[in-house]
Amino acid sequence: MSLEALYKTRLVPVAVIKNADDAEPLAAALLEAGLPHIEVTLRTPCAMEAMERILKAYPQMTVGAGTVIDPNMLPELVDKGIGFGVSPGFNPKLIEKAQSLNFQMIPGVITPTEVELALSHGLKLLKFFPAEQAGGAAMLKALAGPYGHTGVQFVPTGGINAAKVPDYLSTPVTAAIGGSWFVSGKLVEAGEFAEITRLTKEALALTAK
Ligand code: 3PG
Repeated sequence: MSLEALYKTRLVPVAVIKNADDAEPLAAALLEAGLPHIEVTLRTPCAMEAMERILKAYPQMTVGAGTVIDPNMLPELVDKGIGFGVSPGFNPKLIEKAQSLNFQMIPGVITPTEVELALSHGLKLLKFFPAEQAGGAAMLKALAGPYGHTGVQFVPTGGINAAKVPDYLSTPVTAAIGGSWFVSGKLVEAGEFAEITRLTKEALALTAK
């Protein structure tokens, strides 16, 4: 799976879908805004069905799974054609299993120790989570000092909104920004898909290269 669009749009929508019927309209709203990928968190009973429905309706979309914390889920994700996985933390067992399946994981890190653990597994694209709570863009900039030369790149996620985007993008180690502020559960549940398109366009105006 190519993460080309992630690098180009520099935006990762983190969606929590509670009702699988919302899957297609949500995907359509993102596509309409010009965002061809989505991360669906595996924390609702219908998450797997939602991802399958998006892939069926919009095969041009890259669908990633978020909140991947159980290595036993990985074979199913591969089988279903899920393009990438995101985890909140760094679980070596999970990463090693994903690598054996040739499945791209973007694991979460915060500390220098975790960055080095990820690098020692050959991973160069990491989620910086929870970004705001862990020190925000200033913390990421501090990590860029000793690790920038390794080529490591981060997807800061957690507590970010449009106003905070420019600060994160001002560090060269930011590959993309993750967040739910433009695809919030509230908007999805209320069927506010036009508003999701509007907010996504607004976010892309800040992030897209
Ligand atoms: C998550 O996994 O819940 C997201 O990283 C949270 O990001 P948010 O603060 O933008 O909802």
